[in-house]
Amino acid sequence: MKPALVDAPRALQPILEFLACPWCRAPLDWKPAGLGCSSCPAQFPARDGILDLARRGTAETWGAADSEASSQAYQDAYAALEPAQHYNREYEVRTLKRLSTQRERNLIARLLRPHGRVQHLLELPCGGGRLSPSFAQWTELLVQADTGWGQLLHANRRPVLVTPRVLMAGSGFHVPFRDASVDGVACVRLSHHLPTADERRRLLQELLRVARRYVLMTFFDHHSLKNRLRQRTKKPPKMTMTVDEVRAIAREHGAELVAAPMLSWVGSGHRYAMMVKRA
Ligand SMILES: C[S@@+](CC[C@H](N)C(=O)[O-])C[C@H]1O[C@@H](n2cnc3c(N)ncnc32)[C@H](O)[C@@H]1O
Ligand SMILES: [Zn+2]
Repeated sequence: MKPALVDAPRALQPILEFLACPWCRAPLDWKPAGLGCSSCPAQFPARDGILDLARRGTAETWGAADSEASSQAYQDAYAALEPAQHYNREYEVRTLKRLSTQRERNLIARLLRPHGRVQHLLELPCGGGRLSPSFAQWTELLVQADTGWGQLLHANRRPVLVTPRVLMAGSGFHVPFRDASVDGVACVRLSHHLPTADERRRLLQELLRVARRYVLMTFFDHHSLKNRLRQRTKKPPKMTMTVDEVRAIAREHGAELVAAPMLSWVGSGHRYAMMVKRA
């Protein structure tokens, strides 16, 4: 074990060498004062047992600040526990949402089973842990990350998972891991909250950058029946991607889109895109 790892908390030791500074991408060290960057002055304190590795902000943080729209307000929406509890309660009490969660669990199992149990799986965003049990069964260690501190607090209160886990604040725009370091990466229901094509692309690029074996990401299909019907109404347009667009971004980053099933042909425009890195 490297000297810097010896004093790190037990839960962190399996992933410490995979972490990267969200500001400069250098490796992180465990120092007497806690987790910090080995190259720049960034420090990553823990609160309530949760590490804060989130570099918050949107396109201005990767030099594309001229966009009129951003997901900043959405990033801030779950800073407190109350809205996070509300989001998660809705999925527990509303029949349609409960059914959707069940369908999602089935899809996740179908798509991850062929890849077996991996060493490390990053679930980003984990939200309040709605789907975490479905991911936990496919990994030796689950890393749950989200920018919403309230969501992380909620996830922390959930019943214990079947596998060890590490909870951290982390942004999908600056995933705090080294290139090709995490076996599997899962990103459910974030892309369709990002208002610009630039943000949606950036998210997928970051997921593909840190994944070693696969990325499972949901997106709202531009050509879905739900979106086509919506285009005939006065409702604001959905934040969509096409299957071809996702396939092309995956290819640019050494991965193949091997499946993209719809969550539901009629009731939902979401697809679960399974992208596998080429060996
Ligand atoms: C609709 S929830 C989905 C949560 C979980 N995957 C689920 O399906 O229940 C979207 C989550 O994305 C988080 N979020 C927003 N912007 C983010 C970003 N840039 N990086 C990581 N998480 C983000 C929010 O805090 C919220 O918890
Ligand atoms: Zn740094």
